[in-house]
Amino acid sequence: MVVVDQAALMERYHKHIFPATAPMYGDNPLIVDHAKNQYIWDVEGNRYLDFFGGVLTVSVGHCNDEITERTIEQFRRVQHTSTLYVNPVMVDVAEMIASKAPGRLQKLYFTNSGTEANETAIIAARMYTGSMEIITLRHAYSGRTQAAMSLTAHGNWRIGGVTDPYIRHVKNPYTYRFPANMTEDEIVDYCIADLEEVIATLTNGKIAAFMAEPIQGVGGFITPPPTYFKRAYDIIKKHGGLFISDEVQTAWTRTGQHWFGIEHWGVEPDIITSAKGLGNGSPVGVTIATPEVADALKGTTFSTFGGNPVTMAATLGTLKYIDENNLVQHTYEQGQVLMQKLEELQSEFPFVGEVRGKGLMTGMEIVVPDGSKTPDAARTAQIINVARKHGLLIGKGGLHGNVVRITPHLNIDPQDMLTGMELLGRALADVSK
Ligand SMILES: Cc1ncc(COP(=O)(O)O)c(C=O)c1O
Repeated sequence: MVVVDQAALMERYHKHIFPATAPMYGDNPLIVDHAKNQYIWDVEGNRYLDFFGGVLTVSVGHCNDEITERTIEQFRRVQHTSTLYVNPVMVDVAEMIASKAPGRLQKLYFTNSGTEANETAIIAARMYTGSMEIITLRHAYSGRTQAAMSLTAHGNWRIGGVTDPYIRHVKNPYTYRFPANMTEDEIVDYCIADLEEVIATLTNGKIAAFMAEPIQGVGGFITPPPTYFKRAYDIIKKHGGLFISDEVQTAWTRTGQHWFGIEHWGVEPDIITSAKGLGNGSPVGVTIATPEVADALKGTTFSTFGGNPVTMAATLGTLKYIDENNLVQHTYEQGQVLMQKLEELQSEFPFVGEVRGKGLMTGMEIVVPDGSKTPDAARTAQIINVARKHGLLIGKGGLHGNVVRITPHLNIDPQDMLTGMELLGRALADVSK
């Protein structure tokens, strides 16, 4: 372990790093020394069980040996070529993703982040349809460029001004935040009516795309009812638009049972975007489209590092690991355990307003326990801090910062799942005193 003068390091950090790069634990940052598989160690030697994976990005364990070996081997062979030359690993990755992608999604464009994957999707949809109009959901998070911030519907993630006037945000089916006397069907009816009204009143009726996260990540794992996406799909198709599934968080078996989150809703998207867990921590973004949509992106667009041999080697390693270990089934089974444990915690602690999600993408909405459903950001922050003291890393989300996000690695060991849930239970008990 490297000995670190933490105060001095933080002084240097604050001197040189934009303050907008806020570390999660604020005044008490977690300074990482090293990590292996399910664990992270800080510079004081404390070990943490990682149930957040660097925001769902370390998908199959820290410094996973198989992936590390492939990556090092590729580093030694050739590190960078640009897309001016053909790099066989990129083709291998494309072929593998195409073999898992739903429907006719067979062509891919590689970038370095989810933001870029979304930008590419929007450009493709606009060129394919000849329309500029994009519809997306409230509480969406789409990235940090100005177009991606325009797609985002979270006030605090729209800094610096948004620039794209053709993006409209419709009401999302956030069932927990609708009046308690509304049924799921009524909520879907309401949201679909809102979608139709927005198209009729704010667009020229010709739509380029509807873009949605199957489960809203930053939004706090808001999980739409089973009928919502199919009904939204039909309306968008009636208006000539494409369906873009933003799977930056939900892909690669994260939601259990399927490789892609949208498959739970029985919708075949025209475009899927992804990043995060795809490279197990290596920077890679991808836009996957039907051949006709991909081919409509006429002209040339260049990403220097897109499809880089080293990140592609890490990506291929990650995908093979997921496939060979049948994590599509494992995430489903462990997801069942996780959900059951969270429901038990919900019945024990009245400030857990709702538990939701699918597979290994689950959240707990924390509220004031007086029946008002008032978001309780302070208690949420406390839970995360206390869980850390107990040796468990979990995440935070939601518009009001009152959702605990629990996302173990896709290859979580069943015993670690139980340990993690026990630590979470202890943290909830501590903050309920
Ligand atoms: C659903 C979704 N889309 C897009 C992005 C942007 O991805 P990146 O941070 O890799 O640019 C994120 C990041 O959290 C995300 O969760």
